[in-house]
Amino acid sequence: MRKIARAHTNIALIKYWGKQDPALRLPLMSSISMTLDNFYTDTYLEKSSENQFILNGQVMDNKLSKRVFDYLDLLKREFGISENLKVVSENHVPTGAGLASSSSAFAALAYAFSSYFDLALDKQELSRLARIGSGSATRSIYGGFVKWQKGDDQTSVAIPLDEHPTLPMHLLAIELNKAPKKLSSTKGMQLAEKSPFYKTWLDLNDQQIADMELAIKEQDFTKIGTLAEESAMQMHAINFASRPFFTYFEPDTLKVLAILQELKQSVELYVTIDAGPNVKVLCLAKDVEFISKYLKKHLESVELVDTSFGQGVQLL
Ligand code: PMV
Repeated sequence: MRKIARAHTNIALIKYWGKQDPALRLPLMSSISMTLDNFYTDTYLEKSSENQFILNGQVMDNKLSKRVFDYLDLLKREFGISENLKVVSENHVPTGAGLASSSSAFAALAYAFSSYFDLALDKQELSRLARIGSGSATRSIYGGFVKWQKGDDQTSVAIPLDEHPTLPMHLLAIELNKAPKKLSSTKGMQLAEKSPFYKTWLDLNDQQIADMELAIKEQDFTKIGTLAEESAMQMHAINFASRPFFTYFEPDTLKVLAILQELKQSVELYVTIDAGPNVKVLCLAKDVEFISKYLKKHLESVELVDTSFGQGVQLL
């Protein structure tokens, strides 16, 4: 029987932005995320005469397929497997909304691999394998609020903080630019380390993680949002201050930030931004409609994507 693995995307609230070991994708800091509900990748494997990667019905022969095959080779080596594989993936993530499809892609692939070969890996091992594919994928193994701890190859895995949060928190993604990002997150992380503020930011990490864990335990939306916004802005400030400076912001990013600053006068919301120009708003369920209407009024033809908490990996 075909085993289809599903993994949802996640967005970091306390950001991961730096690698201690690029090959193993060991992070320099711990991070905390929320797994999203509506956006996921479905993946299954099949025996094949040659390696093949099919994404959304199309045979891929590009940088992406190379990354998938390199990753599969690594997994095959680790488990002493030699057969060629066909990887079939359906990506249910809106392109361009900055909702990080690599997190769901590599979490689904790791789980599809483990299921196809009946490896019976537990979630910690799955999380470790997903990490080697893409850092943010480490956290997509679990649902709800998830922590990815820094550590070595065995210990740097995800830990569920609250898999079924009752907090009515939403994430509203504002789609500004659909083009693929010009600077990969791997390159951005390398450049960021040249910033004189990088060490300061690393030094703050333990406290930020502790504060966020407490805020999640207390279901304190104000604290969660404040800490998430601080972490995102610090990450982007480091990029601006790097040598040479760089940024993922575009003119529209700043325009949206100014509109959201205004809106903050009348509704509680917080902002987070990843390695791209798109802005994400953290808010309470009751305010989604009000915020959406306001943004549509102030931005020309804006597309909004509303999401909340999703679950961890599953077999369909
Ligand atoms: O693991 P990557 O390459 O998807 O990098 C993720 C980087 C950020 O999205 C900016 C932060 C994070 O923790 O997800």
